[in-house]
Amino acid sequence: MKKVIAVLEGDGIGPEIVREAIKVLRAVEKKYGHEFTLNWAPFGAAAYFTEGSPFPEKTRLICDEADAIIKGPVGLSLEKMSSIPQEHRPEIGAILPLRKRYDTFANYRPVRLPKALASFSPLKEEIIGDGIDILMIRELVGGIYFGDKTEGSATKMTFARDDCTYTDEQIRRVAVVAFEEARRKKARLTNIHKANVLATSRFWQEIVDEVARDYPDVSFMHMLVDNAAFQLLINPSQFNGVVLLENMQGDILTDQAGGILGSLGLMPSACMGPAKGYVEAAHGSAPDIAGKNIANPYSMIGSIAFLYEKCLNLQQESDDIWTALFSVFERGYTTVELSHQEHDRSRILSTSDFGDMVVDIIVKG
Ligand code: IPM
Ligand code: MN
Repeated sequence: MKKVIAVLEGDGIGPEIVREAIKVLRAVEKKYGHEFTLNWAPFGAAAYFTEGSPFPEKTRLICDEADAIIKGPVGLSLEKMSSIPQEHRPEIGAILPLRKRYDTFANYRPVRLPKALASFSPLKEEIIGDGIDILMIRELVGGIYFGDKTEGSATKMTFARDDCTYTDEQIRRVAVVAFEEARRKKARLTNIHKANVLATSRFWQEIVDEVARDYPDVSFMHMLVDNAAFQLLINPSQFNGVVLLENMQGDILTDQAGGILGSLGLMPSACMGPAKGYVEAAHGSAPDIAGKNIANPYSMIGSIAFLYEKCLNLQQESDDIWTALFSVFERGYTTVELSHQEHDRSRILSTSDFGDMVVDIIVKG
């Protein structure tokens, strides 16, 4: 397969974890005889300082021409960020416009912790039980993130406002994605909401119920978001399967899920739109550890697995990456942030050693 892929390295640990991700992308490309052209483009806080915009026009064009996009985390230290005007900060000025441009409404965030890796989690082993395997699907281009806003202090008003709107179509299309995934995995689906308070959640629930009628084979239930936050901690595996969330609630619960795994470094993601998608680690740019070769590249490499599966429709290639990622840990290796006092120091991998080991496993099969 021949494809063009845009690479946005981002800030902080972005370049070093993206480098490992590309190593893995290339190893799989070679193994299966594909041919990818990679085009690098500036994106994020550093791009604001060098190009005057966190999502410069030339980057937009490179992304437009690409079949898929790899994006590293963005953002610099608090001090540097505070010198960037609000509208040019990477969240508002780059990430949200990227999502909007490609209408990436379906955000896949897998939460996977096999039983053998239970020690990574801050939760007790008996709570992890037989392991966690949840696919969180978060709506990514609607709701309060994209509603009208009134800034308080900027307009000298005595209030601030963020509107939350969801249309029938916005809910329906992401619900269909979630039900399709649940059907494919023969897994249950949990729909998260706050229908006891929010009109948008009541509407969300109604539409999801309508979509559910087309999937009588999928076992499905609704759960209030606050209860879900609690249940995720005391019994995470009850969610094994697919969890559907709106944008804001999904932002919060997916980070909580990272905490349950023991590290946000274990949270890859894919953001899919009707025509194309991009992949990114679900975590930030960790400027405090940037350049030290100690960041965990798992999220970024797992995102490459997603790129193969969701953006390029190459399942076997994707499975190879997942298998290699888990086998690094199963062989007793770990990364700095997941390591414990009693860990054999020689088995704590640097960022680049982790990438090399994944490649080695992929190549040797
Ligand atoms: C995420 C991030 C983003 C979000 C921020 C950086 C805009 O937290 O992808 O989860 O809130 O969606
Ligand atoms: Mn987040």
